[in-house]
Amino acid sequence: MPIRFASYPSGRPRRLRTRGAIRDLVREARLSSDDLIQPLFVHDGDGPDQPIPSMPGMYRHSLPSLVERCGRAHAAGVRAVALFPRVNDSLKNEAGSEAWNDDGLVPRAVRALKSALPDLAVITDLALDPYSSLGQDGVVIDGEIHNEATIEALVRQAASHARAGADVVAPSDMMDGRVGAIRATLDEGGHSNTLILAYSAKYASSFYGPFRDALDSAPRGGADKRTYQMDPGNGDEALVEVARDLDEGADMVMVKPGMPYLDIVWRVKEAFGCPVFVYQVSGEYAMYKAAAANGWLDEEAVVLEGLLGFRRAGADAILTYYATDVAEWLSR
Ligand code: PBG
Repeated sequence: MPIRFASYPSGRPRRLRTRGAIRDLVREARLSSDDLIQPLFVHDGDGPDQPIPSMPGMYRHSLPSLVERCGRAHAAGVRAVALFPRVNDSLKNEAGSEAWNDDGLVPRAVRALKSALPDLAVITDLALDPYSSLGQDGVVIDGEIHNEATIEALVRQAASHARAGADVVAPSDMMDGRVGAIRATLDEGGHSNTLILAYSAKYASSFYGPFRDALDSAPRGGADKRTYQMDPGNGDEALVEVARDLDEGADMVMVKPGMPYLDIVWRVKEAFGCPVFVYQVSGEYAMYKAAAANGWLDEEAVVLEGLLGFRRAGADAILTYYATDVAEWLSR
């Protein structure tokens, strides 16, 4: 809240901008590597890293390369990584049953990371899309996503990730009631310290395209993602979603995508004062990369400005494909 009294602001707000030292002293929002989470993709082969054409600089990593890549992030000061698996097509089915295989790609990656880099927090995604032959986040029954059947799958997935040692599980599926069910399952399984980062306000966005290229997870029928992800025109509904997830036991909530939804970040922080995370998604990353490649924008400057905007809007932490780069830029 701006302070209002007779002599403030002074007749010259510009006085606060006259010197670099003063500008630094009065700056309200700051960006630090402490606030950054690096999303990374992992594939299940021994082969080389596979570049993702719509996300220059991002790769599907083999397991050993993922550990190395996380080492670079950790050394730069990034505190957490979020893992997304490119699952072999032969393992995909309509039930997404590979999602709760204890020897699946994600549990193996988590175990490798927690043993190599115990201080780096590992966040795993809970949703079926990487495992679904239809590219859907949930279980499809009769042409519709079945809410309760999906929750049954998600709790198995959560338990499997917790057993592997994930620090945080992040349901990104948008089913109703999944946070409470996941919390209960984690507690019953002795994982009361595993945190839940709920993708509470996740919009049915066209900015996810490059991510779906990375995982080969574009929806191939079954249902329309707009029947579970939020309508981009809605703001009040985001507050309802966040309230429910907090009530069910979410430790942190997420707004996704980022830049087109800054008002949602602000409103959620104002309304609940809880830890709010924001996801600068693949399409946002692709836009920065494309403009930079053309020499149209100064990449480092615009990326730092965009991320600072998330912090000013109230985000505590940011998932960004730029996380490691930014941490390296900030420590120069
Ligand atoms: C799905 C999921 C998606 C992303 C993260 N988890 C895509 C989708 O909902 O189709 C997108 C992230 C990005 O675009 O960077 N569980």
